[in-house]
Amino acid sequence: MAVAVYPGSFDPVTLGHMDIIERTAQMMDHVIIGVLCNNSKTPLFSAENRVKMLLGVTSHLKNVEVKAFDGLLVDFVHQNKADIIVRGLRAITDFDYELQMAQTNRVIAPDIDTVFLTTNLKYSYLSSSIVKEIASYGGDISGFVHPDVAREVQKKLGR
Ligand code: PNS
Repeated sequence: MAVAVYPGSFDPVTLGHMDIIERTAQMMDHVIIGVLCNNSKTPLFSAENRVKMLLGVTSHLKNVEVKAFDGLLVDFVHQNKADIIVRGLRAITDFDYELQMAQTNRVIAPDIDTVFLTTNLKYSYLSSSIVKEIASYGGDISGFVHPDVAREVQKKLGR
């Protein structure tokens, strides 16, 4: 059984993330979305809220679950009896960091492989940071995130 973890900050989940989640769900038997609780970035949303938004936008995908995690990604992968990490690649600028992360994870956990999916071209420019920046200036983010997520972002930013 192919069990994959799709990890990230998801602050908030974008349509680009959704595209990767939906395609992964078609390829794998089971997908666990791992929401990193504490990283160096200060998130706009708490881990609890990020998990809640992801649960909402993935409720139609029956083989997808959402969990928060802390600590090393490879430990989370092992705890969940998965052996594949999925990451999206938007552009060549993502590649250095993603390759370094995948190679490091492979050195510390040789039983885990990282699989890269190229992001749908339609979303190749998109990131959670861009969404937050546009929303913070009152811009329209309806083309970038699910309507429920757009509402949460606007509420959080007092828009
Ligand atoms: O959405 P992001 O912020 O690009 O996701 C980054 C993430 C969560 C995949 C990465 O920061 C991570 O795996 N953090 C957990 C800590 C860890 O395992 N670090 C070693 C990887 S080299």
